[in-house]
Amino acid sequence: MGWIAAVAVPAVSVAASLPYWLPGAVVALRVRIFAWINGEEGVPVPGGLVGTDAFRQVYAHPAADGRSRGAALSDLFWYWLAPGPEVHQEHLEPGPRYEEVARSTREILTGLDREGWAALVSRRAGPLLDALPGDRTTLVRLRDLMMPLWAEVYYELVFAEPCPAEARDLIVANADDVVSALKCTRLRHMGRRDRLTRYLARRIAEGAAPDALPASLTAREQGYYLQGAFFNTAVVQMSEAMAHLLLAIAAHPEVQQRLRADPDDSAYLDRVIDEALRLYPLFGVAHRITSAEIAVDGATIPAGSVLLFNYAEYQHAGLSDADRFDPDRWLRVSARDINHIPFGVSANRPCPARGIAPIGMRVAAREVLRRFTLSSSASHTRSLPSRGPCLLTPLDAAARTGIPQALRLPLLRQRDRWEGLGRSIVQLVLGSYMVWDARRQRLCQKYFASQEAGQ
Ligand code: HEM
Repeated sequence: MGWIAAVAVPAVSVAASLPYWLPGAVVALRVRIFAWINGEEGVPVPGGLVGTDAFRQVYAHPAADGRSRGAALSDLFWYWLAPGPEVHQEHLEPGPRYEEVARSTREILTGLDREGWAALVSRRAGPLLDALPGDRTTLVRLRDLMMPLWAEVYYELVFAEPCPAEARDLIVANADDVVSALKCTRLRHMGRRDRLTRYLARRIAEGAAPDALPASLTAREQGYYLQGAFFNTAVVQMSEAMAHLLLAIAAHPEVQQRLRADPDDSAYLDRVIDEALRLYPLFGVAHRITSAEIAVDGATIPAGSVLLFNYAEYQHAGLSDADRFDPDRWLRVSARDINHIPFGVSANRPCPARGIAPIGMRVAAREVLRRFTLSSSASHTRSLPSRGPCLLTPLDAAARTGIPQALRLPLLRQRDRWEGLGRSIVQLVLGSYMVWDARRQRLCQKYFASQEAGQ
């Protein structure tokens, strides 16, 4: 029987250790497979050619202005953002069409003043949160919890009327499909996205759309524009940002206690938001294609280069405790002192929602904190493919039933680790397929080739 123990004991310990090392190994393999299928392209910034010190200078350079044309990487982004990536503001080349689209986005986003915006978020958050069980702890995925809220909020901002349940469900299905494909946890389901496209086309045909829509776009393109900027990007980014913020609060009881002790301390809540956006920037890498040479640090970046601005690396650089979640660091430093660009750089197409997004986050966080204690032992990474598992316990729960509280966090940790193991393999397989499929479809390259042929 000794041989059984000799085989079984190491096998069991290897199996038990899998969740600790395999996901990391699979991620490394995924990166290599992506590079192999997609081809290595681009100048990493910061990197060998451009250091951290010159990061902003190069990002803000007028020649760092190409958005899609000329980068193989664009085929992948267009694939993930379809339908209508050719009119998505983020991916439009500079020029009159971009200016017109950006103006529409600005107009829609500023349709409400700050008070009106805060009131809208609060009005929509209340009923959604009140629908959660009020007498026991619930396990939620924070990203999923937040999506219906932002779907309703952005619908109301765009159409200036309350969001019907049908529209909310279509928007959530669309946004969830995009972000799940981006994180390679699921394949694209164009059917889910097309249902929203059809709904928006109908609303535009009925004349319900805002006046601010870009007038030079066809009705079909206007629908794609709304779908891309508001019912994909806005909903996904706000849900992701809130998932990071709430998960960080859940994992730091001292921060949560302080927020709850003085709910009107906006300055502290803003520091917590800044810190969440510093540690978990929503953009992994933003890319630009150079339209002319850029001279920097004695070197020259040739025209046509694909610059890959790595947010996480930049925001971590220069801090000895960059991995620590410390909202009070913002008492010692300001965004100007450290490398902090959560909404991009102002000289080169920054986020048009940079003014209202933090206000919305503040209001939504307060609505959650007023109702629930948050706790989580799930791992917290920048890409957060787990969607942020978190326990919500009503503050005024009269009776708590089910699993004893003390066991919940260790159980959640184990569950999260084993889920992470399975998910990393799914991401490897689906990610490799989508990179291959996007390369095959060449949406971006074909679009520009047809534009040139038509000229
Ligand atoms: C906390 C939430 C958000 C964060 C952290 C964020 C972050 C960013 C960043 C870093 C960029 C610049 C990327 C680059 O340089 O290529 C960007 C661009 C953009 N964001 Fe946001 N974003 C958020 C919410 C939103 C919302 C609510 C909208 C609503 C429409 C939005 C729409 C856009 C658009 C359209 C662009 C492209 C801008 C352009 O190229 O002109 N974002 N965002």
